[in-house]
Amino acid sequence: MNGKPLPRLGVDELDDQHERMASMREEIRLLPTLSRAYPWLELLEEFRSHFCLESQMMVEDSFPDRRLHELDHERILAHMTRIGSDALEGLPIEDSELDSLERWMASHLLSADKSLVEFRLETELWKLREECQWDALELVGRK
Ligand SMILES: [Fe+2]
Ligand SMILES: [Fe+2]
Repeated sequence: MNGKPLPRLGVDELDDQHERMASMREEIRLLPTLSRAYPWLELLEEFRSHFCLESQMMVEDSFPDRRLHELDHERILAHMTRIGSDALEGLPIEDSELDSLERWMASHLLSADKSLVEFRLETELWKLREECQWDALELVGRK
């Protein structure tokens, strides 16, 4: 895999963050395995704030699968936290760890994030349609 570009889903703010997270992950890959602790913790913080934004969007849109999606976030955060604290104790962060993070990111993006984005775009479309109908009614004096 090693840094294969992620597909963009259609919400720029999320897509830009996904790309940034992937490029931070690939920068870690260039470092010696024993010098990866701090950049890994920075990546963990990036994940955390990205997940906060996704949660905000899910609440805003009343996204029905929010809890499941958040559970997936919590699981990867717990795993990354464990790896980060082991690294602070002096353990290496192996390339295989970056590979498995890369696999997680690709599969999460193409399942959970994709359905969040599709739901969000559809919700926006409905809101727009309603507004347009409302405006049209106003135009003909029925509001
Ligand atoms: Fe995401
Ligand atoms: Fe997500």
